[in-house]
Parts: sequence; structure tokens; C-alpha cells
Amino acid sequence: METAEKELLYRRVSREIEALLEGETDTVARMAEVAAALHGAFGFWWTGFYRICGDQLVLGPFQGPVACLRIGFGKGVCGSSWARGETIIVPDVEQFPGHIACSAASRSEIVVPVFDAGAKIAAVLDIDSASLATFDGTDARFLEGIAAMIYA
Ligand code: SME
Repeated sequence: METAEKELLYRRVSREIEALLEGETDTVARMAEVAAALHGAFGFWWTGFYRICGDQLVLGPFQGPVACLRIGFGKGVCGSSWARGETIIVPDVEQFPGHIACSAASRSEIVVPVFDAGAKIAAVLDIDSASLATFDGTDARFLEGIAAMIYA
């Protein structure tokens, strides 16, 4: 997808998500709506959240095929994003040491941290694509904005 087209779509989806979340205070409901809105708009392979529960990430609301239920701190792309507290873009999952293959069809991935109202990391937003090198800085920028809506 061209950058301009991608930006346009993210702007539209971001506005849509903002409207959908209006007045809803339950975090799981908010995550569920975000996962569905993103997944439907872009046709990703897998779109969802892992929530930090103690010393592990636990599967949260998602769209797509069944996935790993729990991921340890620092493990895989999701656990690494949690450990670093930053977005990780993986153009080719086979090149990421320790990548956790929930699905053999996943070829590239982006994981964005979700911070709570106290700026503490509370979850990660994980998106997988069935194509190589799907995600870039544009995705990171908009997805970080969308992730910030969860606890806003
Ligand atoms: N690939 C992720 C695991 C989660 S699934 O892709 C849904 C990882 O390496 O953390």
C-alpha cells in the first residue's frame, strides 16, 4: 500500500475508533473494538492485544486465527516490545531471533506498547501480516496514536 493511501486509511480508522470508543469505560471492550476496526479496515492476518498480567502477557481481544495464550517477559516480538517499552517493526519474522510463530502464515509483524493513564505499560497491540515488510514508520506513528486511545 502506498504511504499516502495508508495515511488516509489510518486517519479514517482513527476517527472511526475515536467515535466508537466514546463513552465506553471498559478496557476489554475498548480493546475489542480497536482490534475489529483495524482488522476490518486493513485486512491484516491477525490483530489483537496481549495484556500484562503479573510476569506474563496474556491473550486479550483479537481478530484472526487462534493464537498463543501466554508470552513471557522478553520473549518473542511481543515480550520484547514489553521489555523495551517501545514499538518493534519486524519486516521478516524469520529474521527475528526468538520470534514466536503462532501461525505459519505470518510473515511480518508490528508490536506497539499500550500505556495506561499513569504512563505505565499495560498491554501490547500486536499485528501480523501474511506478506513480508508490511509495516513501516507510518504504521508505527498511527498505531501508537490508536494504542494511546485505549486508556484515554
Ligand atoms: N509472533 C508474536 C506472538 C503472538 S502471535 O503472532 C499472535 C511474537 O513473537 O511475540
